[in-house]
Amino acid sequence: MREQLKRFIEKMEPGSIAIIPAAHEATRSYDTEYKFRQDSDFMYLTGFPEPDAVAVIDPKSKKPYTLYVRPRNLEMETWFGRREGVDGAVRNYKADRSAPVEKFAADLPKLLDGHDKLYYRFAVDKALDQQILKYLSGQRVRRLKTAYPPHTITDPTVIIGDMRLHKTQDEVELMQKAATISAEAHVLAMKKTKPGMNEFQVESLIEAYMRDNGASGVAYNSIIGGGENATILHYVENNRSLNDGDLLLIDAGAEYQGYAADITRTFPVNGRYTQAQREVYDVVLDVQLKCVEYTKPGNTVKGRQEYSIELLTEGMKKLGLLKGKTKDLIKKKAYMKYYMHGVGHYLGMDVHDAGRYFDDQAAKSSRKFAPGMVLTVEPGLYIPPDDKSAPSKYRGIGIRIEDDVVVTETGNINLTTKVPKDPDQIEALMNKR
Ligand code: GLY
Ligand code: MN
Ligand code: MN
Repeated sequence: MREQLKRFIEKMEPGSIAIIPAAHEATRSYDTEYKFRQDSDFMYLTGFPEPDAVAVIDPKSKKPYTLYVRPRNLEMETWFGRREGVDGAVRNYKADRSAPVEKFAADLPKLLDGHDKLYYRFAVDKALDQQILKYLSGQRVRRLKTAYPPHTITDPTVIIGDMRLHKTQDEVELMQKAATISAEAHVLAMKKTKPGMNEFQVESLIEAYMRDNGASGVAYNSIIGGGENATILHYVENNRSLNDGDLLLIDAGAEYQGYAADITRTFPVNGRYTQAQREVYDVVLDVQLKCVEYTKPGNTVKGRQEYSIELLTEGMKKLGLLKGKTKDLIKKKAYMKYYMHGVGHYLGMDVHDAGRYFDDQAAKSSRKFAPGMVLTVEPGLYIPPDDKSAPSKYRGIGIRIEDDVVVTETGNINLTTKVPKDPDQIEALMNKR
């Protein structure tokens, strides 16, 4: 049995059972599908890469781990690809037993019978929700005369999320690999970008590099925003031309063996920051460096957000974007006009990774940084092009700088140092060609 699954079982309550579904294929249009991506929780626990499977985990059974899978089928495999089938699930994925997924609904009553608690996450797989609800409501109608179904249903992601939040050394190594490939792709973009190119050309350079170096693809849709497009936080059209004198904001990260990187750099299309661009850049970089430093045991996620707000509000005052007392500006949330997102998030199998941001006991107490957590650090400033109250030289400038760090006992290790963020180093790299 996979190590992650063993640890999950240790955390399950006595007398409980868990049902963890795989993802399904998703239609892109008509009869074509998006490239399949396994559900992260399911992948974490089972390592099983195929769609439509269901894992059932029953710790008190002699065979605690059952994997329902798509059965072998010569015709289906000829058309749509290889399947492990029930034999492969046992042999290659160490299930204690396996059955065709078509049998799952019929097996459900006997699987659930005799358990106090069911770990199941509703509202992810609607069809499976219906199967489970149908069974439970049927038992109610019979006034529980024939079976003992679970009377408590609880979300397994409370346990799995906490496990995923604290990365093992093996996971950190995979994340370092994802980060390194991504950082090198950003370096390539810095070297190759020239005025007159289109955003999609930079996108294709970056993504080709990732694939070519072993990534399965991108961890999220790349943001390649030239000029004013950098002020649109989730700009993914990536189809405008890059002009001399503009900045280019690239937010792109690879997925490597199921783990994400998430890097942002903002550099001048022509290789030289203007004075105004540099002024805004220096403010963001200073905040980013301080927030990287802040990401260490003893500090909290919420404390870091407040710290970034305070520093950026000071920076906005320095640039003449805001006027007034810092305390009042923060209270009024005046910074929201130019800095409207979080300073970072957990990173792992999902780009916005699993794990709670509050401690279990008191919902209002923010999580403390602890060794093994991986987080992004990504402050930014975005000055709307039509913002009459901003000095005109800054209008339309958008800057974000984003690194990925793993928290250690004494501080953190930055996984994304292979791509420069110091503006002099970026200019030197771009002008070496
Ligand atoms: N690329 C998504 C994010 O930075 O959160
Ligand atoms: Mn990002
Ligand atoms: Mn991010």
